[in-house]
Order: sequence, then structure tokens, then C-alpha cells
Amino acid sequence: MNAPFSPSTLDKIRADLAAAPRQLFIDGKFVPAASGETFDVIDPATGQVFASAASGDRQDIDLAVKAARRALDGAWGKTIPSQRARLMLKLAELIEANGEELALLESLDNGMPIMMAKFAAVMGAAEQLRYNAGWATKITGETIDPSWPGEWHSFTLREPVGVVGSIVPWNFPFVMAVAKIAPALAAGCTIVLKPAEQTPLTAVKLGQLIAEAGFPDGCVNIVTGFGEKAGAAIVDHPGVDKVSFTGSTSTGRAILHAAAGNFKRVTLELGGKSPVVIFPDADLEKAIPAAAMGIFGNAGQVCAAGSRLFVHESIFDQVVEGVTRRASTLKVGGGLTPGTEMGPLVSQEQLDRVLGYIASGAEEGATVGIGGARLEGEGYGGYFVQPTVLTGTTAGMKVVDEEIFGPVLSTMRFGDDDIDTIAKAANASEYGLAASIWTRDMSSGLKLAKRIKAGTVRINGGGGVDPAMPLGGFKQSGWGRENGRAGVEAYTEIKAVSVAL
Ligand code: NAI
Ligand code: MG
Repeated sequence: MNAPFSPSTLDKIRADLAAAPRQLFIDGKFVPAASGETFDVIDPATGQVFASAASGDRQDIDLAVKAARRALDGAWGKTIPSQRARLMLKLAELIEANGEELALLESLDNGMPIMMAKFAAVMGAAEQLRYNAGWATKITGETIDPSWPGEWHSFTLREPVGVVGSIVPWNFPFVMAVAKIAPALAAGCTIVLKPAEQTPLTAVKLGQLIAEAGFPDGCVNIVTGFGEKAGAAIVDHPGVDKVSFTGSTSTGRAILHAAAGNFKRVTLELGGKSPVVIFPDADLEKAIPAAAMGIFGNAGQVCAAGSRLFVHESIFDQVVEGVTRRASTLKVGGGLTPGTEMGPLVSQEQLDRVLGYIASGAEEGATVGIGGARLEGEGYGGYFVQPTVLTGTTAGMKVVDEEIFGPVLSTMRFGDDDIDTIAKAANASEYGLAASIWTRDMSSGLKLAKRIKAGTVRINGGGGVDPAMPLGGFKQSGWGRENGRAGVEAYTEIKAVSVAL
């Protein structure tokens, strides 16, 4: 088997990061923040600063938005669809060619295991571009017969929505950044992208690759910085036509309010508290490991993490024991440590949050079946928490109702076989992002799938995102959809044109 990375590449990356702060990418050029300010970038595996990045604020966002507007009115606006597709395919190739560096940056920055970084950051991003490149030449309007007197030729146009502000979180930084820009570019929009302050590095690298691919200046601008400064400036800016955001429900709500200024279009992909329902006839050899990795994968920092496990009482002990056994053997460590299956949490803030939730669970009467504590000592200098399984958890407890965004599983049993009763329990959440169902009886599986209030339902299969499959939330998990046709169309405005003949 090939080694996941070469140590000399890692040394080069580290030296390069230590040498100078990462800069903003505005109008095709790398520039420092107008204020000259930078912020520290911390390795979550060690808690140590290993890089820094320009701290963009209102002035930088304004320059980026103006550059994006010029590109929209100029070179990018005039680029024909097939050429847009070609550039996007070129960028996909460059991402793959730079895959090792991107995966290392992602793993250092976010803490995720290098193999996950390779798969999620590099391959996932390239596939987002390839899928959406196909749409560039396939965005169409329709012809319509209006019922007005006389004879008419009426049709719709789908035009780019304009300048898009893309705000992404830190849990899958690179693939999310690419998943935001790819459909927007296909639709003919220009972009101001802001990565999360915890994980700016792969987005900056993306800027280099965008320049190398030959996109016109200003087509994609990348401003690193804090949410309250750079992020808020995007949402407030009257020159931004749409904001696409992935992150917390509370920030999503703040964005909705702020977007009212100029009625920006808004797509929001927010939190979740996704149920996993295991029926007594399920294939447990598959369901148990999937339930475990559905919450421990990426240390639970996944919007669609299966954080509420519902198991039929006849197999409850067996399933919980199985998940607990997996937790006990899970190799927790730094993302670059060979064999690591689960990395650290992204930040001290996230560690405090997750440990706070575990403590609240204990206070509210939950039992910690396994885990429950911070991991410390040799090799665990950063923000490590044990994979945790809670039992005795019921709706109404904070650990069951609120998004933890850590490797903490709540477990509930159901005795009733009535699908409506099971659906009611699974739907007892203000969120509605995803759900998993495990059963060999497809009639039960599909009946439950229809009753679940969530944007994504999987039967007998685990996680993963596909650029063709719409992704988004019911209820407080968001507004609109990303991916698929809906994801591209979300970057267009419809115009109805009528000619009296
Ligand atoms: P957050 O939602 O505050 O941050 C996500 C992004 O939004 C970052 O780029 C941040 O800089 C930006 N941002 C923050 N405040 C902003 C504002 N006022 N205006 C514009 N942009 C702003 O999430 P945070 O604080 O990092 O994490 C808190 C919790 O959010 C997590 O524990 C988790 O529950 C949830 N979360 C959910 C994610 C998802 O994929 N649905 C991703 C990240 C966090
Ligand atoms: Mg926040």
C-alpha cells in the first residue's frame, strides 16, 4: 500500500506555512488584509500555532465584492457555457494533481485523518467540479403558452443570480468551499468565498489553483477572516446578491435577519440531530458499524451525523454493545498519525462545548456507557475527546435535543412496531437534515422514509455526499437545497419574457 503522504512534502508545507501568513485572494491577486492584521491557525492535534492568515474585514470584503461585480459584468459574464465547463474541469484536474498537498493542509488544519482528507477533500471536491461542469451547458428555461388574448411567444430565461457570498464552516473545509463555488460558477455567478477562521488553509490553496486554471480575475475571490467581521460584512454588503451558508443554526438565523437589507437570496445548510432507526430484522453486521461511524466519523463534526440512535428493544442491548465495542477499538489520534480513525475536535471551543454537553447529559440522568472524557497525555496535546455512547437518554435532555457536533451518541429503545409511533419519536426534533433506517423489510423502510421529516433519508446504507443528490434540511436544518439540479438552479433567477406576435 502506498504511504498516505511523503514526509518531505509535509516538511515543505510546514516550512512554507511558517515562513509567511496566507494572504487574501482578491481580483486574481494575493494581497494582505487592508488592515495588515493576521490571525493564528492552530493544529487541533497539538493545540499549537503552525500558520497564520490575513484577517479580512469590511474593507477587504468590499474590494472582493467589487472585483466579483466587475468579473460578472465583464470577462466571466461573457464566458460561454462550454468554456465555463472547461475551466471547471481544468480546476478539478489541478485539485487532483495537488491532492497530496491539499490533503495534508486539510488534515493539519482540521485534524481529520489523512485518508479522510484525501477522500473527502480531494476526490470529493474534484467530483463536485466535474458534476457541476456538466450543468454549465445544460441550464435551460422553458416555453410557455399564456392564456392572454392574442398570440404570444413566451419563455423563461435562467440568469445567474449575480455576486454570491459563500460562507463555509470548518468541518469539511475544502470540499465545502468547492461545493459552494462549483454550482455558482456553472450558473455564471461570481463569488466571494469566506472559509472558517479555524480552517483557512485549503481555501487559500484553492485560490492559487483557480488562478492557475485560468479563470478570469475576480471570478472567485477568497477572503479569510472571522465570522463577525468578514462573514458579517458579506451578509451586510448591498453588492452581494445571494448568500450561501453552511454552519450553525444560530448563525443561519443571524444571516437571515441581516440579508433582509437588500433581500439577498439565501441558501442555508444548518445543523442536525439525525435519527438512526434500527428495526429487529436489520442486518446488524452492517447496521452496527455504520451507526458507530455515523457518529464517530470526523469526530462527530458532521452536519448529518447520526446522533440519535433508536433501536428496537429486542436487539437494543446487542446493538449498543456492538457500537460500544467499536468505540473501544477506535483508534483516536492526530490526523497524520498512521492508522488514526478519529482525529481531534477542531478547537478548544468545540472541545469545551462537547465536554459541556457530556456533563449536562450526566446531570440530566444519562449514563455514560463508554468514553465521556477528554483524551490527554503523550500524542494527545490537542482537542481530543473519547468516542462516547450514552444510555438512559430521552427526548427533553439537552444531549438528545441539541446538536453536539462531537462523537457523542444518544441511544433510545422502541418497543412499538407501529411506523407512525416510530416516526413520531424520530421526528421529535427541531432539526430535519438526515435520517438512516435499517431493515430488511422494504415496506417498513419506505413507509418510515415517507414519514420522516428530513432532507436526506438512507435505508441500509451509511454516509457520504454525492454532488448529484440534493442536500438540505427540513425545519430548522435550513433553507433550500445544494447539489443536484436544485443546487445549480439555486444560483439562478428566472425571468419570464413575452412577445406579442
Ligand atoms: P458558525 O455557524 O458560527 O460558523 C460557520 C461559518 O460562519 C464560519 O465561516 C464563520 O466564520 C461564519 N460566521 C460566524 N458568524 C457569522 C456571522 N455573524 N455572519 C456571517 N458569517 C458568520 O459555527 P461555529 O461557531 O464554528 O460552530 C458552532 C456550532 O455550529 C457547532 O458546534 C455545530 O453545532 C454547528 N455547525 C454546524 C455545521 C454544519 O455543517 N451544519 C458546521 C459548523 C458548525
Ligand atoms: Mg459561531
